[in-house]
Amino acid sequence: MLPKEAEHRHAELVEQIRAHDYAYYVLAHPTIADQEYDRLYRELVDLEHKFPALIMPDSPTQRVGGAPLTEFKPVQHLTPMRSLDNTYSQDELREFVHRVQRLVPREKLEWMVEPKVDGVAVNLRYEKGVLTIGATRGDGTTGDDITENLKTIRTAPHRLKALKLSNAHGDAESSIPTALQTIPKVMEVRGEVYMTRAGFARLNAERKKLSEETFANPRNATAGSLKQLDPGIVAKRPLDLVIYGLGFADGADNQDLQRHDSVLSWLKLLGFKTPEKTWHCRSVEELIGAIEELDQLRQKFSYETDGAVIKLNSYALREKTGFTSKAPRWAIAYKYAAEQAETRLHGITIQVGRTGALTPVAELEPVFLAGSTISRATLHNEDELRRKDIRIGDTVTIEKAGEVIPAVVGVVLTKRTGKERAFEFPSVCPECQSAVSRSTGAAVGESAVVWRCTNGDCPAQVRGRLEHWCSRGAMDIEGAGEVLVAQLVKHALVRDVADLYSLTLERLANLERMGEKSARNLLAGIEASKERDLWRLIFGLGILHVGAGVAKSLARRFPSFDALSQATIEQLTQIEDVGGVIAESLVDWLAKKRNQQLIERLRAAGLNFRSTQFDSKSALGPFSGKTFVLTGTLPKLKRDDAAAKIETLGGKVSGSVSQKTDYVIAGEEAGSKLEKARRLGVTILDEAQFLKLCGQ
Ligand code: IVH
Repeated sequence: MLPKEAEHRHAELVEQIRAHDYAYYVLAHPTIADQEYDRLYRELVDLEHKFPALIMPDSPTQRVGGAPLTEFKPVQHLTPMRSLDNTYSQDELREFVHRVQRLVPREKLEWMVEPKVDGVAVNLRYEKGVLTIGATRGDGTTGDDITENLKTIRTAPHRLKALKLSNAHGDAESSIPTALQTIPKVMEVRGEVYMTRAGFARLNAERKKLSEETFANPRNATAGSLKQLDPGIVAKRPLDLVIYGLGFADGADNQDLQRHDSVLSWLKLLGFKTPEKTWHCRSVEELIGAIEELDQLRQKFSYETDGAVIKLNSYALREKTGFTSKAPRWAIAYKYAAEQAETRLHGITIQVGRTGALTPVAELEPVFLAGSTISRATLHNEDELRRKDIRIGDTVTIEKAGEVIPAVVGVVLTKRTGKERAFEFPSVCPECQSAVSRSTGAAVGESAVVWRCTNGDCPAQVRGRLEHWCSRGAMDIEGAGEVLVAQLVKHALVRDVADLYSLTLERLANLERMGEKSARNLLAGIEASKERDLWRLIFGLGILHVGAGVAKSLARRFPSFDALSQATIEQLTQIEDVGGVIAESLVDWLAKKRNQQLIERLRAAGLNFRSTQFDSKSALGPFSGKTFVLTGTLPKLKRDDAAAKIETLGGKVSGSVSQKTDYVIAGEEAGSKLEKARRLGVTILDEAQFLKLCGQ
């Protein structure tokens, strides 16, 4: 094929595929058989392979994802992306409508109601009809540039349908005023990226098979996917996009874009998927009707909705009512109550967690709720139990909060018979019979009402700590699940996480149902865990209040575990996500002899203690940006301690002296490095001067 012909055929294929994509993904009305589509697509791929010059960023083949990024660049939205205020009852909704009416007393209000899709808000910028930037909401003004990730979504048009030129999709175009048939030079549209329930279930099933961590709900899966730096991974996630508004459009300030309903029809004609159902309402009664209808319908939607969004239709009135700092005054979200069910509570058991916390658990008559059968639910803590006066034998209302852990909301008092028994909260740990203590005082924040088992060697705590260490979110040791951990503890093969690293084939051979192959796999998994990132180790230690997010912040701020160990509460609280409670808990943990010994044993076992996430920019501190070289023997400090001090204060330790060296710390018998430092005029310090510089 000649280049000219190839170019012609390429344009044809692109146009056809784009039209089929639109019909399939946006309209959900395929216009061609799958095989036929695949044939066209393959032809396009082959053609682009032979003539790479034909590949354009907006070619349908480019949805598979471009090259991985190292970071997301910040991008400023052309107009702020605001959030919505919430209402939870019809009364609150009435109040909202009255509030708006008072702002524009003489106007007849017309509302639009749309499903509130539960996903992640995004902004898409089109320049001359081509998608140029896609971003997250961020702080509302500036978001992350996730263009490459958004391009992988089939319903995110790379190029808008040119209304004037193409009449391929029906007749509606003729009813569009001529002014709208040209695409604005620059426009931004706002919408929600989401995952269908089916797509989410498929993704989680695949991840489970690969022993990867599953996502808690479709929204988390969406957010997690959009955060990927490799668009190739995002391309494989079942993401979808719905556009519900216009953020900016230049040259579109004409009469025809003055109502939300016409904007939505226009956006649809440009190729966007818009809300699948909308309502026009002219009174509170009509609004309530629409909200109730949506509540019925949404069960059947393929994706999750957590409410209805109510917005004024007229742009002129929107302008008159304006915004608060956070949200528009002309729109509100109506949140539906979480799904609930009633069932009988036939017992309360106590679970002892890895931190020793005693959590009461409701044992329930199995009941079907929001997609699964529930037989247990959390009762949180003793205070909660008393406040709700929950008794064994009660009929209780349970709820799936945030679609994850079911909780008991309260007692159905009308169904009390008098035969119910109050629950006696145990005064000793049900697992090891040790004393329990109630954490009090503001220092422990939210856990102020928690009873904890005081015995650090309590088997339940030991198991909990081991399970946590081995879990996918922490050190990710394959084959070390709940059952195995229980066996290891029961047979006294392991008492703490460091013991895992001295397990051998012989010792494992004695366990029930443990073949040689699984034993070898387990040992390989344990071996592999030695190389894990530092944040996983920090998180895996199970320090009270130190979650994965905090662990990551710490690993960004400190280059090594040793540097972290030397940090003070003041230094820690300067870190993102780290407040006083967390800092104190961390410092307490590190100060305990027992924990220090554990760390030393882990070090001796060969675990990684250095952070690959370390970001010197985030290492705020007096030594930030400064490079040190250590040479000779210092009188008091060990070399590692000195290095840790430097790193804790934000500095870097280097092995050789150069122009870039800021300080050389010289001890006795310092040799050539000291020489070189003198030659280059680098500041030379002795130990005392160094300690002074450290502020000690
Ligand atoms: S309008 C300035 N419409 O809900 C008004 N938002 O809780 C902007 N959302 O950040 C929002 N579906 O991510 C609007 N049909 C819809 C929506 C919707 C979902 C999300 C959106 C927003 C959040 C506010």
